[in-house]
Amino acid sequence: MSEADERDRAVAASLAEIRAIEELDGVTEASLEKIKGVLLQLARKRALFDDRAFPPPDRDGISNFYKLSIDDDDRYALYLSVGRKGRETPPHNHTTWAVIVGMSGEEENRIYTRADDGSVDGEAELKQIDSKVLCADDGLAYMPDAIHSIHVISDEPTRHFHMYGTALHALPERVQFDIDTGRYTHFPAIPSMSAKADA
Ligand SMILES: [Fe+2]
Repeated sequence: MSEADERDRAVAASLAEIRAIEELDGVTEASLEKIKGVLLQLARKRALFDDRAFPPPDRDGISNFYKLSIDDDDRYALYLSVGRKGRETPPHNHTTWAVIVGMSGEEENRIYTRADDGSVDGEAELKQIDSKVLCADDGLAYMPDAIHSIHVISDEPTRHFHMYGTALHALPERVQFDIDTGRYTHFPAIPSMSAKADA
């Protein structure tokens, strides 16, 4: 079996487990922990997901975002994100559940809550309530209304699975927050790439 076939088979087996967990348990903190466990197992096969098939970007401050699997109805989307030091996002929500699992590198995740009552369209006051550094063989799970920002802090590029209940291109209600202005705006989907065909 080729390495690409082996990778496809491992991804498909994990996705089957993840679909079954959500269908049986729904979207809860406990079910997302189970999904995190499936992805931590997949992350142990890291030779299938290394930089031969999924090279890092050539510059600091950006990331390559590879599509691994998305169902035909845009549900259950698994991506591989490879980010270089300085890569960061503004605070944003997902409007679907999200589980992030690390294979290498360190990425700070700042976690926020809304301090306003949501009564003014386009305005939001955020309060940071936590910060976690996502390392290899660890993961973070976010409910659909969670708000976080990410910041790659290690010289070694991050190599992370990003698993979402729905594909990012199919989430038109996602928003990003500007802490300084107290405004929020549409969060544009990151374009995704494919693995290198020869790896
Ligand atoms: Fe995110």
